[in-house]
Amino acid sequence: LNTRRELWGTDCYGYGNDTDAVYKNIPFYMGLHKNVGYGVFFDNTFRTFFDFGKERKNACSFWAQGGEMRYYFINGPKLMDVCRRYTFLTGRPELPPKWALGYHQSKWSYYPESTVRNLAKEFRNRKIPCDVIHLDIDYMDGFRCFTWDKKRFPNPKKMVSDLKAQGFKSIVIIDPGIKIDKKYSVYNEGVKHGYFCNRGDGPLLKGSVWPGECHFPDFTNPKVRDWWATLYKGLIEDGIAGVWNDMNEPAIFEDGSFPFDARHDYDGHPCTHRKVHNVYGSLMAQATCEGQKLYLDNKRAFTITRSAYAGVQRFASVWTGDNLATWEHLKIANIQCQRLSASGISFAGSDVGGFIGSPNGELYTRWIQMAVFHPFFRTHSSGDNGDKEPWMFDEKYVNVVRTYIELRYQLLPYIYSTFWQYATDGSPMIRSLNLVDQSDSESYFREEEFLLGNNILVAPVSAEGISSKKVYLPKGKWYNYWNDELIKGKQEIEANTPLDQMPIFIKAGAVIPFQP
Ligand code: GLC
Repeated sequence: LNTRRELWGTDCYGYGNDTDAVYKNIPFYMGLHKNVGYGVFFDNTFRTFFDFGKERKNACSFWAQGGEMRYYFINGPKLMDVCRRYTFLTGRPELPPKWALGYHQSKWSYYPESTVRNLAKEFRNRKIPCDVIHLDIDYMDGFRCFTWDKKRFPNPKKMVSDLKAQGFKSIVIIDPGIKIDKKYSVYNEGVKHGYFCNRGDGPLLKGSVWPGECHFPDFTNPKVRDWWATLYKGLIEDGIAGVWNDMNEPAIFEDGSFPFDARHDYDGHPCTHRKVHNVYGSLMAQATCEGQKLYLDNKRAFTITRSAYAGVQRFASVWTGDNLATWEHLKIANIQCQRLSASGISFAGSDVGGFIGSPNGELYTRWIQMAVFHPFFRTHSSGDNGDKEPWMFDEKYVNVVRTYIELRYQLLPYIYSTFWQYATDGSPMIRSLNLVDQSDSESYFREEEFLLGNNILVAPVSAEGISSKKVYLPKGKWYNYWNDELIKGKQEIEANTPLDQMPIFIKAGAVIPFQP
């Protein structure tokens, strides 16, 4: 209550609890009125605002800076059905490759090749499960997308295939900015065919990002999306198994984003950037996903994107951007993933441990414990303050971290089935307690507990040095995972939280498949 939210995709490096707007733009909210759950999807890509009692007490309102007042009212009356039907409208995902539900390791950046190979070796030597290694911007030749820095990675194909032999998939980052460089084929093709965005008065739009001055593809043009898709051919032939799209709010260093007068095709309905800004990132992710499919020989694509508009779940997973290594941010990540999941985007996760700064062993361990239950599970860091691999902490932390990553793998059949349910009927994978029992007013104020799928409830530990924590169990009967105690729901209990225990409860009567 008493809040107003703005949707205008923003590169909000080091955001906080009150930051508004953030990276993603999902013009959808849910409400509960006399136990009737409903949802409103505002089908409008302009800058939008949602106001809950701030403009006028006791009133919800929403508006946009352009476009049509076209919105969908979804009458649940169950909130879970609101979520499902919202995805009926905006789309459901395909099943991802199973490995994408495993553990991912990332840093800005792992290079050169020997560092990547050592990283892989360390995981195997230390017997910490890991399926995916992400290569951040420094694998490229001067940040030119779709190239390799041949000094750092002299034979990428060989490296990727050796990693594959050790059971690792490789993912590379691709940003939208294309370096202005007459010796660079992607730049030349883009200019020749008119694939880049223009300013209102004619010239090509320019903006500085990692490579320096860049032009930017107009992803709202279907021809540009087709072209962008074909650019992935080389990377896929090198064995790359998935793609990470970043900076697609779109972000520009000095100015924040594109000027309003930038021109876009908008699938043959030309318009300015005001109409496109919020959907630019999603369309980039769409083209990226389609590109992988062109060359993956019927294997499943995997894309992750930072910016997103409603419906992005058809093409990509998401992460919550440049967060901080603090306890507060562990809580923020928890809430963000619950809300994203209710908004059609279940395949979400945060930079485990925090992107900016260094977590201590305890914070890292608690974050890993939570993220085991987030569909996208990746450690990533800015690399500014040293490394953040699971073994960078004292042995007692490393052992717990290993056990939890193992738990993630043991639970994969359950997580995969939960994903199947999401892909099939749109059921959110992560569920806030209010989705589980909307008639229980206690659940409205419980933000930390959540369910993964139908049967597992967790309560992440979000404070340092605590040996127990209050947990609210919704209706029904629950087994304490750690000691098999059967507990009646609709009550608050005190759960033990020694370092190796995050509160986990299993719904009575459930069958949870485990794998080795
Ligand atoms: C942005 C991304 C971050 C990435 C960095 C370098 O800050 O959010 O994840 O590591 O750019 O590519």
